[in-house]
Amino acid sequence: MIAKPTGLQKLPSDLDENRLPQQIAVIMDGNGRWAQQRGFPRVMGHRKGVDTLKELLRCCRDWGIPGLTAYAFSTENWGRPSEEVDFLLTLFERVLRQQLSEMMAEEVRIRFVGNLEALPESLQAEIASAMEQTANNQGIEFTVASNYGGRQEIIAACRAIAQQVQEGRLSPDQVDEALFKQHLYTAHLPDPDLLIRTSGEMRISNFLLWQLAYAEIYVTDTLWPDFDRHAFHQALLAFQQRDRRFGKIRK
Ligand code: IPE
Ligand code: IPE
Ligand code: MG
Repeated sequence: MIAKPTGLQKLPSDLDENRLPQQIAVIMDGNGRWAQQRGFPRVMGHRKGVDTLKELLRCCRDWGIPGLTAYAFSTENWGRPSEEVDFLLTLFERVLRQQLSEMMAEEVRIRFVGNLEALPESLQAEIASAMEQTANNQGIEFTVASNYGGRQEIIAACRAIAQQVQEGRLSPDQVDEALFKQHLYTAHLPDPDLLIRTSGEMRISNFLLWQLAYAEIYVTDTLWPDFDRHAFHQALLAFQQRDRRFGKIRK
């Protein structure tokens, strides 16, 4: 599908193409509130949120941002009413099936991170098929965090490393940051430069706890279904104004 002309197809001239974030993480929050403000059931916000995500992916592609990781479902989201959880899981499955041909046409490479084994089998099958079919695509690297929890990810890494130590295949002094990273779901990805959270909440809600160590955090009051190219432009402008010191000082 051809993206609707919005006047922001090209990188806006006030952004420096050499200082764009290479990996962006996004907490897509505020779907429920968006729907409730309109008198709709919460799940309508989730449906609208899919369009926002598609548009953001296209925008990343148009503006030359190579990687996006989106938080779709947290390990804590199982605690919501079962109708909402079921709606979300069914929505993921349907969207994956319906969007595959577009992802192929747009060269999107999709991967999922999280405890995928606990998802419904039909969704797991759809995930496996989408990952396999898009594996050689050369466009944007799109990661979806589903049944993802940062603490669980760290525990899983610790267990895998402890197992190797117990089997005598690794010694404790070989455990360093690089080795630890290899055991995370995101082993293949660079750490995010920028974390965007919509709908105003100033928290990371168990997202990418290890990987976000030095990400710039941008929170906007805009609700996820309303987060458009203009809102993304604002996030990138804010990012380019940050002074990333990484613990050092400027001389
Ligand atoms: C984010 O929107 C989507 C998911 C967590 C799946 P919410 O559903 O959290 O919307 P609010 O925060 O209740 O408005
Ligand atoms: C974070 O949003 C999870 C996702 C966007 C998938 P939540 O709405 O679940 O987070 P809290 O409850 O406000 O911390
Ligand atoms: Mg929320």
